[in-house]
Amino acid sequence: MSTTVPAPPALDITFHPDLWSQTKMTRLYDLLVVHGTYPLLWGCRWKYPARLYRHALRPGTTVLDIGPGSGFFLDRFAPGNLRLHLLDRYTGSLTAAATRLARHRPALHTGDALDPLPLPSSSVDLVVLGMVLHCLRGQTITAKTPVFDHIHEVLKKDGQGEFLGYTVLAHGVGHSPLGRVGLGLLNRRGVFANTGDSLTDLVTVLSDRFEIVELSVRGSVALWRVRTR
Ligand SMILES: C[S@@+](CC[C@H](N)C(=O)[O-])C[C@H]1O[C@@H](n2cnc3c(N)ncnc32)[C@H](O)[C@@H]1O
Repeated sequence: MSTTVPAPPALDITFHPDLWSQTKMTRLYDLLVVHGTYPLLWGCRWKYPARLYRHALRPGTTVLDIGPGSGFFLDRFAPGNLRLHLLDRYTGSLTAAATRLARHRPALHTGDALDPLPLPSSSVDLVVLGMVLHCLRGQTITAKTPVFDHIHEVLKKDGQGEFLGYTVLAHGVGHSPLGRVGLGLLNRRGVFANTGDSLTDLVTVLSDRFEIVELSVRGSVALWRVRTR
């Protein structure tokens, strides 16, 4: 008699609950990442993403931040009376951001950015995806297109929905020697999954779905602000 042993589920090397713990996000993220790796590895000071938030955030709107990290940017730039939703794969990040942004009474969602979003169709004014795309499994922007489709689905249509984001790319941008070492290391550890992420593919997936308001590159980071058609 033969028995069939089911294959184990494929190991997802991008699953890192310990890395994105509440303590690390609260105590270390701003210092090590926003003030550290942003400029030192990726050549992009936080003032560049900050500009996107300043332009896009408006009082009284519904905002979804996917992968809010420590909540650094919304803490600085979110106006009052937002209807704020935070979504993250990890409860550590979600709790850290929710605690910091408690004055906005955010609605919290645990989920993967690659899955359909838990909000009604055409209900959101602004979606934020800051430094998350390069963490998503798939290794190419093309493999990660579901995230762009799901964001498009929840945004208000006819130019009323905006989407801002920024991500470290592997191709089509500049890399310092230190950045190149960092990119290799973070990909080997599974913290990043962006060895095939290119500027060309990013422009294609964005322009296929949205009207591009601005798109720029700072160091190894592409930054964008787009709106629905
Ligand atoms: C590098 S931090 C970015 C934090 C912040 N948005 C910023 O701009 O600095 C990545 C964030 O994405 C979350 N994250 C990682 N993989 C995710 C996934 N597959 N789905 C949703 N969130 C994810 C992490 O928990 C963390 O909050």
